[in-house]
Order: sequence, then structure tokens, then C-alpha cells
Amino acid sequence: MADTLTIKDNRTGKTFDVKITDDTIKATDLRQIKVKDDDFGMMTYDPAFMNTASCKSSITFIDGDKGILEYRGIPIEQLAEKSTYVETAYLLLNGKLPNEKELTDWNHEITMHTILNENLKALIDAFRYDAHPMGRLISTMAALGTFYPEAKNIFDAECRQRQIVRIIAKIITIGAFNYRRGIGMPYAYPDNDFTYPGNFLNMMFKMTESKYKVSPALEHALDILFILHADHEQNCSTSTMRVIGSSQADPYSSVAGAAAALYGPLHGGANEAVIHMLRQIGSNKNIPAFIEKVKAGEGKLMGFGHRVYKNYDPRARIIKQAAYGVFEVTGKNPLLDIALELEKIALEDEYFVKRKLYPNVDFYSGLIYQALDIPMGMFTVMFAIPRVSGWLAQWQELLLDPDQKISRPRQIYTGPRQLDYIPVQNRK
Ligand code: CMC
Repeated sequence: MADTLTIKDNRTGKTFDVKITDDTIKATDLRQIKVKDDDFGMMTYDPAFMNTASCKSSITFIDGDKGILEYRGIPIEQLAEKSTYVETAYLLLNGKLPNEKELTDWNHEITMHTILNENLKALIDAFRYDAHPMGRLISTMAALGTFYPEAKNIFDAECRQRQIVRIIAKIITIGAFNYRRGIGMPYAYPDNDFTYPGNFLNMMFKMTESKYKVSPALEHALDILFILHADHEQNCSTSTMRVIGSSQADPYSSVAGAAAALYGPLHGGANEAVIHMLRQIGSNKNIPAFIEKVKAGEGKLMGFGHRVYKNYDPRARIIKQAAYGVFEVTGKNPLLDIALELEKIALEDEYFVKRKLYPNVDFYSGLIYQALDIPMGMFTVMFAIPRVSGWLAQWQELLLDPDQKISRPRQIYTGPRQLDYIPVQNRK
């Protein structure tokens, strides 16, 4: 029989035909495989979801072996070259590129919603001066939701759209205000004359001048970085967004949770680790010894390797190119030479070749952020800002997907059963 999988249960000798769709079988189809009628039925054990598709999605396509990344079918290289982040966010959320009017309206809406309710500043003021920017971002995003109680109406398309606009627009203000608060600078308010990345730079770096001057080259490089980070299908933070969203929580709470997942060093925190590593290496002459240490299992080459990409991460190639444009304006980041040499040596070394370890998105992004004067603690915030459009697109897809329900994995229970309660005085 075509498109089925025949499974023989050697415990009972019974065989089962399970339907195959898209090279996938439904995990619940395995539940018919039982020894006794009152058994729960067969499950799959898949810690870290190494081989489990949790949804059908038409947002982002990745072919990790070939190094391909597409948003709604459009290769990332074309978007990085020709699009803007704001347009790319529209594409992710709506499934198609906007026409001219739609783009103008969308740009206008995002620009008009960058202002934060003044009361939120009291919350931002309350953080200690040295609070980590990601802790601030996560908390401020969750608090932002309390200003819009209507946001719980997640099945009302218009209301949902309002929250999507607010979150994408206000996250640059939240990121920049928290940065200014940390360094004791007065808040710089959004300025509607700027593009999305330009406005972010304005709110981060405006001093006493009446109008901030944005460098077009830096604004463009930041826009490219935002495009490249906008979505990456079912990674840890996006899956978190979907899991929280599946309980029908409001989108601010879901985004705060997704940002918390991004915070970890194995996910959005790796770009910071790359800078630490390059500083620790210090000079090209120390690279061979560093590589030997990595090969001996003493630490990792940060910014290398990926769960999905077993080829050059297409985003790394684009970022490397963009870095040169930035350094023309800012002067070369002295760590660049070490990074280039490190990449060259690693790509020729059998250890890395055999394991298909290539530079990932984080290998060069930190060098650009540094050149833009963005402090290391903010690097993960720089990742979170554009990723909200991906999280929200995935959240919306989840809400409209009739296959989806509240997320609730199973477990294999390994503890004791039916023990008696022992009063405290009788316990050893
Ligand atoms: N340096 C040295 N060896 C490595 C590295 C590395 N960066 N990455 C993987 N390996 C080795 C690993 O030790 C293993 O070797 P062996 O087969 O001898 O045990 C083999 O390669 C396979 O690695 P793995 O740990 O099974 O791969 P994974 O898919 O579980 O991990 C990863 C993926 C990204 C967590 C890992 O490659 C890593 O820790 N890289 C460094 C951190 C990093 O750059 N993270 C950013 C990821 S991209 C942005 C994002 O998604 O947020």
C-alpha cells in the first residue's frame, strides 16, 4: 500500500498500517499499538524535539544541508539586498509582499505606534542601573500588555492586528529607553521622520543636538541585521511563543516568554560569547593553539555549528558582507582580523569539516553591533527586536490553525508509585 508505514509489534505479532503525509506519521496514530486493551498505547520519546514536527507552517523554509533560508518562499539573500525590515515583517505576517499603498500604510502605522505610555517609564526607572537589558526587555514587554487589557481578545482579527503593530513598533522604544536608563541618560523620544532602524539609533544615541543625524550606511546595515533575524521557524524561542500562545494568553505575555527563551547563551546569547572568545584569543598567532584546545574538547568555537545548518549559514555570509560596509564608516573592528583568520583555519581543519561546522549568524553579528557602539549586554535585545515579527507571525498562524490545541506533551513516568505518607516524626 502506498504512502503508509507498516509497523510490526513483536510483543504481540500484530501489524499496523499508519498513514504517511509529508514524510511524516501522526504520533497519535501510534496509540492503537497496545499489548492489552487498557494500555495507554505507544508514544514516541523525543527530548528536545529532535525529530518531531509540532505544526504545519508556511512562514519560513530552511534547508540546512544546502544552506537555504526563505521567508514565505523568498530567499533571504534577495530580502537582505532589496527589502527593508518593516516590509519583511509585513511579508512574514501576511504571507505576501505589500503593494505600494499597503507598504505606505504599514510603515505609517509602525511609525505612529512607537510612543510608550508615560506610566511605563516609572517601571523602567525602577530597574537598578546595572539590570541586564534582557531582564528589562522581558519585564517591560509583559508590563506593556497590562496597558492593553483588550489584547486578550486574540480571536478578534482587528484587535490582534492592533497588538501586533504595537509590539513591533514599541519594542525599539523599550530597548532604547532601557539602555538610556542603564547609562543614566535622559530618554530620547521616537522621531517620526526616521525609518524603523534609524529611529532606534536615534533613541539609543541622540545627545543634545536638536535633530539626530543617522548614518545611512549604519542604518542600512542595521536594517539588514533585522531582516536576517526576523524569523527562523520552530527554534527554541518560537516554540516557546507557540506553547504559551496555545493557552490563549495575550501576545505581550507570549512575547515576554519567547524573549526569555531567547535570553539563553545557546540561543540568542551566542553573539556575545563570540566577542568574549575573540578577545580571549587576542591575536592571530594564538589561533592555532585555541583551535587545538577546542578539538581537545576544551570549550567550543562560539558562533560555529548549528542544529539545522550543516552548511554555511546563509545569514552569516550576508552579515560578513554587511560588516565591511559598516567598517568603512566606523573604522575596522580590530577583532575582525582574528575572526577572519579563525574562520579560514577552522574551515580547512578536518575536525570542523567532518562535523559540518560552519559559521552561524552569530559569528559576525557581534562585530557589527560593537562597531555600532551597541554594548554587549544589548546584543540579545538586538536579536529580539526583529524576532518579534517572526514570533507574532507564528503565533497568528497557530491561532488560525484548526489542528492546534493547548500544548501538552506526555512523559514517561520513572518515579515510585503508591507510597504511604509517613508522619514527620517517623521519618529517618
Ligand atoms: N565548536 C566545536 N565543536 C562543536 C561546535 C562548536 N561550536 N558545535 C558542535 N561541535 C561538535 C560537538 O562537540 C559534536 O562533536 P562530537 O560528535 O565529537 O561529539 C558535534 O560537533 C555535533 O554537535 P552537537 O552538539 O551534537 O550539535 P547540536 O546540534 O546539538 O548543537 C549548537 C548546535 C548551535 C548548540 C552547537 O553547534 C554550539 O554550541 N555552537 C556554539 C554556540 C553557538 O554559536 N550558538 C548559536 C547558534 S545560531 C543562533 C541561534 O539559533 O540562536
